[in-house]
Amino acid sequence: MRTTIARREFLQQTLGAAALAALPLPRSRPAVQLAVRDFSLVARATTIDVGGGRTWPTWVYNGILPGPELRVREGERIRVVLTNELPDPTSIHWHGLPVPNGMDGVPGLTQAPVMPGETFTYEFDAAPAGTYFYHPHVGLQLDRGLYGALIIEPKEALPLASRPDREYVLMLDDWLTIEPEAALAQMLRQGGMGGMMGGGREPAYAGYLGNGRLTAGADPITVARDERVKLRIINASSATTHRVGLEGHQLVVTHADGQAVAPVAVDSLIIGMGERYDVVVEAGNPGVWPLVVGPADSAVPGVVVPFVYASSTGRLRPVTVWPSSLTRARTLRYADLTPEAMPGPQVQPVTTLDLALGGGMMSGNRWTINGQAYPDADTLRLTRGETVRLSFRNRTMMRHPMHLHGHFFRLMRAGGVPVPGITKDTVIVEPMQQVDVDFTADNPGRWFLHCHHLYHMELGMARVVEI
Ligand code: C2O
Ligand code: CU
Repeated sequence: MRTTIARREFLQQTLGAAALAALPLPRSRPAVQLAVRDFSLVARATTIDVGGGRTWPTWVYNGILPGPELRVREGERIRVVLTNELPDPTSIHWHGLPVPNGMDGVPGLTQAPVMPGETFTYEFDAAPAGTYFYHPHVGLQLDRGLYGALIIEPKEALPLASRPDREYVLMLDDWLTIEPEAALAQMLRQGGMGGMMGGGREPAYAGYLGNGRLTAGADPITVARDERVKLRIINASSATTHRVGLEGHQLVVTHADGQAVAPVAVDSLIIGMGERYDVVVEAGNPGVWPLVVGPADSAVPGVVVPFVYASSTGRLRPVTVWPSSLTRARTLRYADLTPEAMPGPQVQPVTTLDLALGGGMMSGNRWTINGQAYPDADTLRLTRGETVRLSFRNRTMMRHPMHLHGHFFRLMRAGGVPVPGITKDTVIVEPMQQVDVDFTADNPGRWFLHCHHLYHMELGMARVVEI
């Protein structure tokens, strides 16, 4: 596989992409027609209409929020030209997708920052299929609205019986009307990064957005009766773990972080920053229903998206508190998720890294891994090919959604119990809990490992993993 990529890159340099696409591959390799899909993303300041008469001067891609959806087929090659029209350096990270290290978009680690006025071309293979998203990996830029969905459709069409009739992508965001750097300064000033155990405040969000819109302007999800509706839910928030539920319906979870799981029906799910869930809704209950999203620990919904049957008239009734049908009934737990297919033989990890998550006010407002705050932190060195267990132990009273670049991992233990080994790339470590994930260090390079709470990351909860 790696030699194929090397050959492609070589050919691309010598022949250019158009010639490459038409080039017959040697007979010993599978006959793949490699299509190159070109996209252009321009990061710039603009003013976004978030609905309800509110506007937001901020930074986005291509003038829209969320940024353009990049949708490709598994096995295609993606080429994205990023143009930086911002006043600051930037980059793009392809969250969840194991790309070659030089395409991973972490300035200072995998590339030079893309300076104002510059362009940078990202190019990589679209595999495996799944729900991903893209965002900068510079400071707090994600919290300004620089994000968009990256959808890789499976190479083989699904069997008719399980094919959705309709599909929506739903990107969740916490809406900051001040600059994120100001929000961070405010939090630090108020000692808001936490009490003794590192509990604490979040940035002063003005509201919550579904696909870039407040409740007052939310674009409806329109369905027809008896359709099978697929929702790809992506939490692009910087500091908000959300609960998601649809009144009058169950959510059948089919994929976690884009990877297939055995379908499981729940009334609501909790989704951390950087996590994705694909769910299917069987549209068998006509009406106008609230799809409710909001901070997992709040009684007040953050944003409500109308779920509207084409045949139904009427308006969405206002939802001011969480409907109890969604909060008291079955909430998805990691232990409910099993791999869709029997996993291959489980390789026993040869190396275990115990990673204590700490910090808060008692640590001088730093968030730490084993007492160290990045960038004043040791690199975690691994040998290529070895199987490694990351054992996260949360010593704080806050959730930490931990994300590893360049690899998927298998979730082995969560909430104090062994779990069935699903594939993920981001996992919530609940307060005072332990989560174990195993992965094979097969993608060489220097990879970021961090809490996807952007403010925790910025204040130190990150490490470099060198393979
Ligand atoms: Cu969304 Cu370092 O990642
Ligand atoms: Cu965190």
